[in-house]
Amino acid sequence: MLKLCVCVSGGGTNLQAIIDAIDTGKITNAQIVQVISNNKGAFALERARKNNIDAVAVSPKDYADRALFNEAFLKHVDEAEPDLIVLAGFLVVLPPMMIKKYEGRIINIHPALIPSFCGKGYYGLKVHEAALARGVKVTGATVHYVDEGTDTGPIILQKAVEVLPDDTPEILQKRVMEQAEWVILPQAINMIANSKI
Ligand code: GRF
Repeated sequence: MLKLCVCVSGGGTNLQAIIDAIDTGKITNAQIVQVISNNKGAFALERARKNNIDAVAVSPKDYADRALFNEAFLKHVDEAEPDLIVLAGFLVVLPPMMIKKYEGRIINIHPALIPSFCGKGYYGLKVHEAALARGVKVTGATVHYVDEGTDTGPIILQKAVEVLPDDTPEILQKRVMEQAEWVILPQAINMIANSKI
């Protein structure tokens, strides 16, 4: 059974997609053992608790400096003894020591078709604003392994989504989540849990 530690910062719809996929058998041989958020007010924490999943907030605001936060954050991750760490809408840059320690065992969902609209500053709605500003006709989402760079790790899965003439960043974000993110993130976890990759 693959033990998952899911890191979240916001609403948690990607976390919910993983929970639902495990409940419905779309994901097999995996269980969420821990949910960690950097944001105490994240609705994702409520989603976890509603599903009896251990959930904790480790906020940078509670630590005198970044090094102390990184240490505390890594300690919570280590205590969960995860086989796979899933960044599901997690907006914190991971400490290098954690990337090294869990090399090849951390995946992230990004709401664009990497290498488009990714890297520093490209997160949340900003990604969709940039896609609309550039006038692309197709966008989508990407699941990739996490390395020292921002959105630079090896790609696992991608799914394309059409951009429609009247799209706003919010409308496009919702379509990318529904048609791409909530599909490929559970798929990638299932592939890893069943040694398909
Ligand atoms: C998602 O679009 C994800 O790709 C991005 O942040 C958003 C988080 O959404 N990194 P949620 O918290 O999973 O609803």
